[in-house]
Amino acid sequence: MDLGLAGRRALVVGGSAGIGLASARLLASEGAVVTIAARDPDRLRQAAQAIAEAAGTEVEQFPIDVTADDAENRLARRYEGRGLDVLIVAVGSSIRGAFDSFGDRDWRDNYDLNVVGPVRAVRALLPSLEAGRSPAIVLLGAAGAKMPYANQVVSNVHKAGLLALVKTLSHELAGRGIRVNAISPGRTRTRLWLDRAQRMAAERGRTPEAVLEEFAAEIPLGRFAEPDEIAQAVVFAASDRASYLTGQSISVDGGIGRGLL
Ligand SMILES: NC(=O)c1ccc[n+]([C@@H]2O[C@H](COP(=O)([O-])OP(=O)(O)OC[C@H]3O[C@@H](n4cnc5c(N)ncnc54)[C@H](OP(=O)(O)O)[C@@H]3O)[C@@H](O)[C@H]2O)c1
Repeated sequence: MDLGLAGRRALVVGGSAGIGLASARLLASEGAVVTIAARDPDRLRQAAQAIAEAAGTEVEQFPIDVTADDAENRLARRYEGRGLDVLIVAVGSSIRGAFDSFGDRDWRDNYDLNVVGPVRAVRALLPSLEAGRSPAIVLLGAAGAKMPYANQVVSNVHKAGLLALVKTLSHELAGRGIRVNAISPGRTRTRLWLDRAQRMAAERGRTPEAVLEEFAAEIPLGRFAEPDEIAQAVVFAASDRASYLTGQSISVDGGIGRGLL
């Protein structure tokens, strides 16, 4: 299926690793003109090189911390006077622990990344998106927003807020020609889970693979997702093939979500 993304200008915030990197790679392979943004310049460079080699195109890099006060201005300036067709925001955290183990600092710092960062990116880039060709925004939610897990209260609450943001924006921006959706991943083999498995393995005297297997056993499909399996849905939602899709959160979770909606 031709996704119609050839020549389209795309920005992937959080595009140097995990699901963002897989999405950027897929966009580039579809012929999109891709910029990846994230904090660590070395990781950005390596990711851009890997995408460029695989897709045979140039990939722009933009070092930025979306939780920094100047992030919005820097994003707006970078795209001033230029159209943007696709904005993907793939930053987010998930901290594990009991409700009463988290203080205000945990709530605020993670909120800055999970909600304020995506809000800033969208706000900064609205004029460029309005000037883009059938523009689309895709934010990364989490399956846990629809089926809140115990011991993950901070990201459960923040990602539920992000889905409310998507729904609100889809209404406000439809008249300006911009579609807005969320893709909500289940457990996916990225740094987020690999680091967690390592910590839990050390606490429990087990191997990280054994910890991952224990969590995989709860998933109907019996395994974690690969980042590319989430990216396929992200890129579809960003493409013209999804021209009637807006305000939705599509779970790509191996069946772990038990709700009907
Ligand atoms: N993996 C899962 O199982 C899972 C499950 C549910 C939801 N999700 C959601 O899916 C999205 C992607 O997760 P992932 O697992 O792919 O994460 P990841 O592998 O940790 O990658 C995160 C990306 O975001 C960048 N980033 C982090 N903090 C940033 C900041 N302050 N400013 C700019 N860039 C920043 C990282 O690069 P730098 O560190 O260099 O900045 C990296 O490129 C997130 O929204 C996450 O909440 C993931």
